[in-house]
Amino acid sequence: SGDILIAPSILAADFARLGEEVAAIDAAGADWIHCDVMDGHFVPNISFGADVIKAIRPLTNKVFDVHLMIAPTDAYLEAFARGGADLITVHAEAGPHLDRSLQAIRSLGRKAGVSLCPSTPEATIEYVLDRIDLVLVMTVNPGFGGQSFIGSQIEKIKRIRTMIGERPIRLEVDGGVTRDNAAAVAAAGADTLVAGSAVFRGRGAADYAANIEAIRAAAEA
Ligand code: DX5
Ligand code: ZN
Repeated sequence: SGDILIAPSILAADFARLGEEVAAIDAAGADWIHCDVMDGHFVPNISFGADVIKAIRPLTNKVFDVHLMIAPTDAYLEAFARGGADLITVHAEAGPHLDRSLQAIRSLGRKAGVSLCPSTPEATIEYVLDRIDLVLVMTVNPGFGGQSFIGSQIEKIKRIRTMIGERPIRLEVDGGVTRDNAAAVAAAGADTLVAGSAVFRGRGAADYAANIEAIRAAAEA
């Protein structure tokens, strides 16, 4: 379908030149900018926080798709909203009060997303479908870029596509997505594809554009 969005993950960017890299993927045709926030507690890695998002916010008008791999979440939501997040995604596994966190995101005037780790069943989101604008299916164990796609998640993507029905909820897939598996991911029902290492290959915007378009073309085939 022509409605595929590509969201490059800046976790794979050169952190020594992060501003230039954000401008480069904007110019290269990124639809969204996927910002992977990691706290070294919910996931075994530390990336960056709201101040970094605030710093790069003026460099692009593209949607900031903020993926919070942190626990607990609620105390930080306002900082990410103020920092420029357009969409804030929390993990269903980050705590016992997912419904409250999703309501808190929307009360801050931002779109709300829920993310599921590979072992978390889709039934987990059954009672929050009316609280969300996006479901993020992890196809790697969160914490690092450059990992291999976990094929078992294709079935979950299909089932979540059915659960969504006519609701205005985007289905985003994140982890190990490349031009080689993008067709299967889209065919299963994803409409938004995150890619880090598959985009940030090569030497700058020209290569990034080619990488983005290769993934998009495969997904829309
Ligand atoms: C993993 C992150 C993903 C990751 C994607 O915890 O949520 O967004 O950065 O990177 P690739 O596309 O290289 O798997
Ligand atoms: Zn992510």
